[in-house]
Amino acid sequence: MTQVFEKHISLVGLPGSGKTTIGRYLARRWSMGYVDVDVAIEEQIGCAIRDFFATEGEERFREVEAEVLARLLARPEKTVVATGGGAVLKPANRERLRAHSTVVYLSASPHEIARRLQRDTQRPLLQVGNPLQRLLDLHVQRDPLYREVADFVVAGNGLSATQVAQRVA
Ligand code: S3P
Repeated sequence: MTQVFEKHISLVGLPGSGKTTIGRYLARRWSMGYVDVDVAIEEQIGCAIRDFFATEGEERFREVEAEVLARLLARPEKTVVATGGGAVLKPANRERLRAHSTVVYLSASPHEIARRLQRDTQRPLLQVGNPLQRLLDLHVQRDPLYREVADFVVAGNGLSATQVAQRVA
């Protein structure tokens, strides 16, 4: 079913909340374009995000993330935008997300996400220490920011990615 939206549809949430899978599903369902901000960042920096974190540090990564997000949200063609989990940290990103997109927060508990990510080795912020504790900390820090920026909050606990996507749709 082709949908005509006046704004992009941005998905926000913790790493592992399903932004990529659900974003792809929604874009297919609505015959829209899909962009993954992390992929666009990797195209710009020419290496994996985890390597960039290791060599350049998180602050530099956040600057690049803000540039890429601004560029993607400024495109006239309306797309589904899967953001990185930390995109809400900068106030300027939150303003842009709200101005240029309808924002959906994919909310899932840190326990559920930790189960889903058990074998994931790609996410630099979860490589340090105990991943569950890290997710609990990120949730405390970011849940208010995701809620602040969101037009809709969709709870995904106990649901498959397809079920969450149907709920969002
Ligand atoms: C980050 C999440 C990652 C990626 C980067 C930083 C974060 O994206 O942008 O590693 O701060 O939560 P995903 O949420 O797609 O894993």
